[in-house]
Amino acid sequence: MSTPTLAIGQPTDRVDGRHKVTGGAHYSADVLLVGMAYAVLVGARVPSGRITAIDASEALQAEGVLSVLTHENLPKAAGQPPLIPSLAGMPAPGQTFFPLQDEVVHYTGQPVAVVVADTLERAQHAGALIRVSYEETPSVTTLDQGRDEAYEPEAIFAGFIPGRSERGDVESGLAQAEVRIDATYTYAANNHNPIEPSATTAAWDGDQLTLYDATQGVTATQLTVAALLGLTPSKVRVVSHYVGGSFGCKAMIWAHPALAALAARQVGRPVKLALNREQMFTSVGHREEQEQRITLGADKEGRLTALRHHKLSPTSHFDDWAEPSLGVAGQIYACPNYEGVYRLIRANTMTPTFMRAPGEASGMFALESTMDDLAHRLGIDPVELRLRNYSDTDPTTGNPWSSCGLKECYARGAERFGWHRRNPEPRSHRDGRWLIGYGMAAAGYPVYGPNNPQRARARLYSDGTAVVQAATPDFGTGVATVMTQVAADALGLPVERCRFEGGDTTLPTIAAAVGSSGAGMISAAVHTAATRLRDQLIALAVADTQSPLHGADPGTVVVRDGRMMLSADTGTGESYGDLLHRNFLPDVEAGGSWSPSAESTRYGMMTFGAQFAEVAVDPGLGIARVRRMVGAFAPGRVLNPKTARSQLMGGMLWGLGQALLEANYMDARRGRWVASSLGDYLVPVHADAPSVEVELVDVADEIVNPLGVKGVGEVGQVGAAAAIANAVHHATGRRFRKLPITLEDLL
Ligand code: MOS
Repeated sequence: MSTPTLAIGQPTDRVDGRHKVTGGAHYSADVLLVGMAYAVLVGARVPSGRITAIDASEALQAEGVLSVLTHENLPKAAGQPPLIPSLAGMPAPGQTFFPLQDEVVHYTGQPVAVVVADTLERAQHAGALIRVSYEETPSVTTLDQGRDEAYEPEAIFAGFIPGRSERGDVESGLAQAEVRIDATYTYAANNHNPIEPSATTAAWDGDQLTLYDATQGVTATQLTVAALLGLTPSKVRVVSHYVGGSFGCKAMIWAHPALAALAARQVGRPVKLALNREQMFTSVGHREEQEQRITLGADKEGRLTALRHHKLSPTSHFDDWAEPSLGVAGQIYACPNYEGVYRLIRANTMTPTFMRAPGEASGMFALESTMDDLAHRLGIDPVELRLRNYSDTDPTTGNPWSSCGLKECYARGAERFGWHRRNPEPRSHRDGRWLIGYGMAAAGYPVYGPNNPQRARARLYSDGTAVVQAATPDFGTGVATVMTQVAADALGLPVERCRFEGGDTTLPTIAAAVGSSGAGMISAAVHTAATRLRDQLIALAVADTQSPLHGADPGTVVVRDGRMMLSADTGTGESYGDLLHRNFLPDVEAGGSWSPSAESTRYGMMTFGAQFAEVAVDPGLGIARVRRMVGAFAPGRVLNPKTARSQLMGGMLWGLGQALLEANYMDARRGRWVASSLGDYLVPVHADAPSVEVELVDVADEIVNPLGVKGVGEVGQVGAAAAIANAVHHATGRRFRKLPITLEDLL
């Protein structure tokens, strides 16, 4: 039987919007518990060395101070789980180093003490009274300092991604090329900076721990804290009802939730531990500084014969982490000869982490800038060059794409942007003193599936309303809204009669929503659960001698507006509510579970897109302004065009920030980040934001998940910085192989 799609595809307003704009939304740091105390972290002031002494006497005498925890008195962690990306549904510590275990300092900002007091201000004051003495040792904190000591790891991402990948023979591919380009791209480090800094409130009830945590995955927090504390996971409940943005910094689970739990156990009271803005630069990972080198060979028609892509980046002393920059860039074009290699530098920083469009945004900047260069050198239109290298299979496996739409993205994006107006000659468009440039780039982001079953539950009440539940928090993506829509269609109910509940480990398990996987995997679980519930209700009706549907073939029953009917035309049937009333059932419930199909491993799965940008450069003042951006994307089924557009638009604006603004630098003399506030770390504001247009290209995907959802969270950023840099080249004739491109560069 089929129910018509009514709610999916509608631009439904956010179900949590009103709460968010009226102050009704309670975030993790808003939690108030009886007898609650406040913890603050004290961070190391040196990047490398050891603590020789900690004098907490003054702090301990300060008013209201309950405890000072250091490596000298904190109970040791029970175990350190390995670093596994949170999507895997296992413990997911952001790094395999847990602080306050010994006197060694690995990076500036590493927690060296936790101060607990009866108010936040008293905790902060006492934190400032702690005297830590260090024996400092030489540090490496920048790529340049560590360049000569770089090593090739066997794998990055905890073994999920090999350090080296090859196909064909890149040397012979380069030898047969008629054009070769060898270019190196440099990138400043980036920090996430969601509006809500990370925070955890911990409360013990006997041996049962409850954490209110700002996280992308309550299960990831639960499993990680349980492993660190030596608890069985069911003894840890994690609640995360509202999360004020994340962009990846709340994907992995850092030290502070476990430290809050340890502090709460120590003082015998609930404890809140909220990071301040400065600590957000040293406590939740970052996008690493990096260098990428592309060596590309092509024939005279622009067809790639070889692609070599090497990345060099600093990681921590404990983990082989690099954001996976060599994925989409090695996959999006047909190129028989390929070599991708990661090289790492042990540095005195924390382990870097996911940051929006992790890896792909930086990798595609390098590739798509080089492709633009190739187009320019060969006198081929940049869109045409990409069409010539189009691949209808995943070149890494030879598997077909589960769905593609890339060619339509080029065509529709170019059309909407007005690409045909572009004179290919650099410096040929002007607007007064402004040099105008048009640039474009391809975009792609993988469709990741979870490693374990995703679960949801649906319950229909006798008043005809329904609730669907899954553990996932909504960290700003709109997942609560779209899951309400998914449930409404599966149950045949109007969206107003459905409600989504998430953000709690007492609900059915969902892996952390990372890597743009949320909408696909959660909709699969919710759809499965709600469909099973509907089928159960229909089965109940046809078995009920008092039902007008008694004896009907369940497969012929349709449901509209909460009414089960033999056919929508005659209306013969009854409402869910009548059925439940008559049977003395206050509610009926069903669970559902979903895992990616085995079949999906035989396909390449990616959300494709194309980015177009117009920039205006004032060469006298060094100012670059992005005037327009157009992005065309083919994300499979669009559950809600309003939230999808917002995600894609946000990603494109992130690309603008990446291209022109976002940067953090290490002061190598002190081993400290130069930017540690939103005043120093620039992100696009309204005045920077141009007209951003999003074109949604319809493609059906029957492989990825039941509803064919490929994800929109990150692809909007991929290629956006390259489109802007390519537009800067078109405007000025100058190619900048660095991010961000700043005023100093343009002068
Ligand atoms: Mo996303 S940066 O992979 O959480």
